[in-house]
Amino acid sequence: MRTPLVAGNWKCHLTVPEAVALVQSLRKPLDGLKGVEVVVCPPYTSLSAVKSQLASSSIALGAQDLFWEPHGAFTGEVSGPMLADAGCRFCIIGHSERRRYFGETDEAAHRKLLAALAHGLTAIVCIGETLEEREQGKTFEVLKRQVSAALDGATAQEMARVVVAYEPVWAIGTGRHATPEQAQEAHRFIRERLTALLGTPLASQTVRIQYGGSVTAANALSLLSQPDVDGALVGGASLKADSFVAIVKAAAEAKAIAA
Ligand code: 13P
Repeated sequence: MRTPLVAGNWKCHLTVPEAVALVQSLRKPLDGLKGVEVVVCPPYTSLSAVKSQLASSSIALGAQDLFWEPHGAFTGEVSGPMLADAGCRFCIIGHSERRRYFGETDEAAHRKLLAALAHGLTAIVCIGETLEEREQGKTFEVLKRQVSAALDGATAQEMARVVVAYEPVWAIGTGRHATPEQAQEAHRFIRERLTALLGTPLASQTVRIQYGGSVTAANALSLLSQPDVDGALVGGASLKADSFVAIVKAAAEAKAIAA
């Protein structure tokens, strides 16, 4: 069985003292919690301070993005080796906000995936359709294109360090989450695509597929109970310790019920 992964994407929020206070309040309820893996992804400015707070914790550190070159004259960018050096184990790639506001393409997501893998990071690769694409019946077409482009050429072995996050754009920050049935339908489709890409169902069965988009303490259990939903990528609700802890506990409970 896949261990669910719950990741908090703090986006462009929290000063260093605020980030430290949040991670401090997560440690007691979450450290050592069995059956679920937990990651926090603060902004770059707080990585170091949060890392210090996570000494000997089971909570892992992740970044929200990376640049594909390891170093060079790329003002404003942060690279894979820098993130690994800062203590990151995970990195979010291809988030819809990167695609929408910063013009990131499928090709860029692919280059970033390769860089993350090359530098020992586990990539959380985000995909998802817009409302317009869903209404035009293009959801599966979009997911197929995004999965194939981002993961092009990845081997079954490399997929051990890849997590896919299904984040329908219309559900992000809107309070309108996918229904459990909509999430399961998309996740099952993504897993079928992974089987086709990797050439073996054995490999795709081990890849975790997270759901993201308006996940809250109230809806987490029903979403995370779906058979192909292996955790959550949480935005707004990850900024408050109570709601993030409740979502992590829901992930553990959902898998305990399934077992
Ligand atoms: P919200 O949980 O705020 O909808 O954000 C989801 C998201 O984009 C996580 O990456």
